[in-house]
Amino acid sequence: MSKPEPTVTDTAEITRAQELVYELRVKEVMKTEVITVSPGSTMRELMAVLRVNRISGTPVVENGNLIGIISIEDLIKAFARQRFDDLVSDHMTRRVIAVGADEHAVQAVKLFAQYGFGRLPVTDKEGKLVGIITGSDITRGLLSTLNKQYQSEEIRRYRASHIFEDTLSDSTSLILRYHIAPRDFEQGGQASSTLKRTLQRLGVNPALLRRINVSAYEAEMNLIIHTTNGGEIRVEISPQRIVLVTEDTGPGIADVEQAFKPGYSTAADWVRELGFGAGMGLCNIKRYSDSVSMTSVPGKGSILSAVFEVGPADHPE
Ligand SMILES: Nc1ncnc2c1ncn2[C@@H]1O[C@H](COP(=O)(O)OP(=O)(O)O)[C@@H](O)[C@H]1O
Ligand SMILES: [Mg+2]
Repeated sequence: MSKPEPTVTDTAEITRAQELVYELRVKEVMKTEVITVSPGSTMRELMAVLRVNRISGTPVVENGNLIGIISIEDLIKAFARQRFDDLVSDHMTRRVIAVGADEHAVQAVKLFAQYGFGRLPVTDKEGKLVGIITGSDITRGLLSTLNKQYQSEEIRRYRASHIFEDTLSDSTSLILRYHIAPRDFEQGGQASSTLKRTLQRLGVNPALLRRINVSAYEAEMNLIIHTTNGGEIRVEISPQRIVLVTEDTGPGIADVEQAFKPGYSTAADWVRELGFGAGMGLCNIKRYSDSVSMTSVPGKGSILSAVFEVGPADHPE
């Protein structure tokens, strides 16, 4: 029976663990200590190996090469016919399903499902046996990788959010600058999303982060849409407040008060067709920030400054 094709929702909901099965290599999770027998061992010797090690089968190896596999069923069949002193090579399966050490773990998972095996020998490119892998090796590998990634993320967040406490000065601030090119709609929003990720790492509370992000996006788009030469976004972060400033060199705004009115826009038709120029940018910045000011000199340029107070609730633990 064939499995249904994965749907778009399946893909979108892929978990980090599922994704990791495609990233981890077999060699990263396999066991390298493998119990093996040689083709010249007797079935009686094989029985001892299986019993002592409590395993139900083992790869057969000659000069390091994987040449077969033999299981407890092969042993039982041989013993039923009193073939105690036959050689392993007389009873082993020669066509071995193995997985390459460099393959992704997902390949092993597929083979487990396809053949119903509990374990697979692992070979290198020359066919030498280099390890053995089971489903629980994969699970263990996934968990430890996820755990390591989680811990390094936690450490990063911790270090970042404590920058201010760890820095001794009368007043500390961190300034981020982003250069914005005019008319560059393709890059539009990139500075504000980079800013968002940075503030996230600094431990800024999500609600405050959303207000800043929306404002930064609007300010960035205004530099792209309305200025002659683009401009600069400057974000000054201090423990008490985050200040978003944009500065450009023209054309400037004749009536700043009017520019803040909802729906007021001088955007050209082609810009509106791109979905910008609804005239809500500046009034949204005003709404989402704690205070805003804009100074502008026609022919010279504009400076917009929006302040976001960091309340006690916004401080990271
Ligand atoms: N940096 C700027 N330089 C020149 N004009 C600007 C600048 N930012 C905003 N404006 C003017 O203010 C108006 C309103 O801006 P905004 O509220 O963001 O609406 P929109 O960008 O949708 O037009 C713009 O249409 C434009 O005329
Ligand atoms: Mg705008």
